[in-house]
Amino acid sequence: MARMGVDATTPGPREIEEWDLFNELVADGRIPVVSSNLYREVEGERIPLWQRHLILDVDGVRVGLFGLIGGTEFAGAAVPVESGVRFQDAEEAMEEMIEELRPQVDLVVMMAQMSSRTANDLLTRIPGVDVALYGNRPSFKPEAQWVGETLVNQTGSRGQYMGSVTVIVDPDGNVIDSGSFNKPLLDPIPKQPEMLARAEEADDISKELRRTGTVEADRQEQAALATVKYLGAETCRRCHAAEYDHWKTTPHAGAFATLSSDHGMERTPECTGCHVTGWEQTGGYVAGNNKPDLTNVQCEACHGPGTEHVRTGGSTPMAEATCTGCHSGEFAKDWDFGTYYELVRHDK
Ligand code: HEC
Ligand code: HEC
Ligand code: HEC
Ligand code: HEC
Repeated sequence: MARMGVDATTPGPREIEEWDLFNELVADGRIPVVSSNLYREVEGERIPLWQRHLILDVDGVRVGLFGLIGGTEFAGAAVPVESGVRFQDAEEAMEEMIEELRPQVDLVVMMAQMSSRTANDLLTRIPGVDVALYGNRPSFKPEAQWVGETLVNQTGSRGQYMGSVTVIVDPDGNVIDSGSFNKPLLDPIPKQPEMLARAEEADDISKELRRTGTVEADRQEQAALATVKYLGAETCRRCHAAEYDHWKTTPHAGAFATLSSDHGMERTPECTGCHVTGWEQTGGYVAGNNKPDLTNVQCEACHGPGTEHVRTGGSTPMAEATCTGCHSGEFAKDWDFGTYYELVRHDK
């Protein structure tokens, strides 16, 4: 960030999870952190951790930036207790920031590290933000959208996309026109040799950390703790050959290939989740450690992890919610439970 010359960034749940590392990185002050609702309490007084807002002059337009984490999703999240860090209610902080910034600037920009739903809700209830930029695993949208009177951009996560929002402001500070584009950082964006070298260097450091450090230890501990495991369709096939053969004919059996062939997106966390089995579940699909093969939407995506089946002798009851974890949002398409259900049950 320092090398790219960013003007501002606001911490999200990932930074909170790696609190010590994050603090070490920002300690030299080269990364301008803005946070409007993280504070430390000292003798009953709220001391902000960083600047609560930032005012920039961009070609004569005064831009006020503030950054929120919240709403309640991360309140108290893994910040070490001894740090004394507290979260101010996001809504309260937002109102304070708008009141302070509005008289001083032409354009108010909010950086939001919270679910898109919470952020949309805040923007619809509290007017006064011109542009909002969403963090915390927002889905990828090719263009910015309007939420009430606010232009909202969601560029996807993990630095895998580049986003651009342009706003044209008249001399009275009214937004009179805007444009935007977001792009995945895949080819054909040319790789810069210097950046590539730095990426490889970072990759080496990360590998070394994994080899020696806590990452591997944590994972082994998790694996040992996990009694629930996904077994993969090949195991189910041994006793349920007919269901297996039918499943093979459904698009679910090829869902992972769809990602790689159409978009080269099979390693993109925003995409993989619904195209694999047991995403972010104990004993489920893990990128880079995919044993047994849990790519594609296999039996256990609908029936639940196999070890549970063995233990209970039955399957997880199949309600519409089994499907709508994946068949939702922009991928809901022509979703109709009844029609879709008939296409996946095996006795048809
Ligand atoms: C060792 C053999 C065996 C394996 C392996 C096996 N099952 Fe079964 N499964 C059974 C038997 C036996 C039944 C009961 C059949 C019956 O009642 O007609 C059953 C029943 C089921 C049912 C219906 C349960 C119900 O409530 O009606 C589902 C769903 C199911 N299995 C899914 C799976 C899945 C998914 C896997 C792989 C993770 C799997 N099974 C692996 C033997 C097996
Ligand atoms: C783990 C995520 C996931 C779950 C759970 C899931 N699906 Fe799907 N489903 C997908 C994906 C991804 C595709 C697209 C596969 C492809 O085309 O590559 C798909 C495709 C389908 C299709 C084919 C649609 C078409 O356009 O041909 C049907 C039908 C379907 N699902 C029904 C269901 C039903 C019914 C359930 C619940 C009982 C369900 N799915 C549960 C992810 C899921
Ligand atoms: C919330 C779950 C979910 C996520 C996240 C998801 N998909 Fe899917 N995807 C689905 C479902 C469900 C379908 C099947 C829709 C249908 O046919 O009814 C599908 C279908 C597809 C298809 C088949 C053709 C089409 O457009 O219907 C492609 C290609 C695809 N997804 C690519 C992606 C890519 C690329 C990403 C990441 C940007 C992604 N998916 C993320 C659930 C998801
Ligand atoms: C998209 C969701 C989905 C997937 C994936 C899926 N099933 Fe099913 N399965 C169903 C539905 C729906 C039923 C019917 C339940 C009902 O209506 O009684 C069913 C029923 C079953 C049954 C009960 C007997 C029967 O045939 O009705 C078995 C056994 C079973 N599935 C095994 C499997 C196996 C093995 C796989 C993987 C090879 C698999 N299923 C993949 C949705 C799924």
